[in-house]
Amino acid sequence: MITLTDIAYVRSGVADLEAAVRFATGIVGLELAAPTEIGVAQLRADHRHHCLALVEGPSGVIASGFSVADTDALAAAETELERSGTAVRRGSAAEARSRRVREFIAFDDPFGNRLELVSQQETVARPLVLARSSGITEFGHLCLDAPDVHEAYRFWSTRFNARVSDWLGDRACLLRIDPVHHKLAVFQGDGPGLCHMNFQVGSIDDLFRNWHFLLEHGVEIEMGPGRHPQSTAIFLYFLGPEGFTYEYSFGVRRIEDDAAWAPRTFDPEEAGSIDMWLGPVKRVSSQAQLQPKKAGVPAP
Ligand SMILES: [Fe+2]
Repeated sequence: MITLTDIAYVRSGVADLEAAVRFATGIVGLELAAPTEIGVAQLRADHRHHCLALVEGPSGVIASGFSVADTDALAAAETELERSGTAVRRGSAAEARSRRVREFIAFDDPFGNRLELVSQQETVARPLVLARSSGITEFGHLCLDAPDVHEAYRFWSTRFNARVSDWLGDRACLLRIDPVHHKLAVFQGDGPGLCHMNFQVGSIDDLFRNWHFLLEHGVEIEMGPGRHPQSTAIFLYFLGPEGFTYEYSFGVRRIEDDAAWAPRTFDPEEAGSIDMWLGPVKRVSSQAQLQPKKAGVPAP
């Protein structure tokens, strides 16, 4: 069993880096880290050096990163994955530097989503300086696609310390790795991909101010503002460049008493099961997983 201590980052490939950075800063409001590498822009939302890396190149999600406790835990995870027949690649020193982690390993989940486990992701002590006053306080969660969410649950709950918080029928599985209702979600989708990346904001006022800001700037709102009955979070999904869906949310439930929590199942077709305010619901668009160059050998 591999213990994930937190989510770490998303790496996403973008054909137009300048436009993607303009959106991530000027619209989403993330802080742009000082550039250290040509063709890579790192965006910060909290104590992490960055939680989103935009990498110039083919459009598509490159990898989703999760933290483990330390280098020993990473080595143990590597051994455990290899023993189970998973092809694992250890990142080079230069790749680890680019990710602002000490070490990392890369592998694919059973559906082709590229995952990276990292040790010692860099923390920045300097206060966050958001590019605009979006009220972002934290990288909240990430959401992956898989054709079968029950199979995905089996993967995450047997290999890792992920526990299911709630089900949306066959449509989604919401998973926690700490008291936050979900830091990871898997949505039913045709192929591997990133369904969305979530940022928490500091208040309900931030969320609604952001909604008006997005509307004024002609950003496509995919869903919301609404409220998820599972996590009780007030949400707003919107579409960024190159099919990358962002989410702002506020007020996510915490499950402090793990043993007392019983996962619930909601029928996604039932009114209110996705938005308890009964607003229009739709499946938000996903960014497809970039395929590695050689089958079985995870590429950077
Ligand atoms: Fe979400």
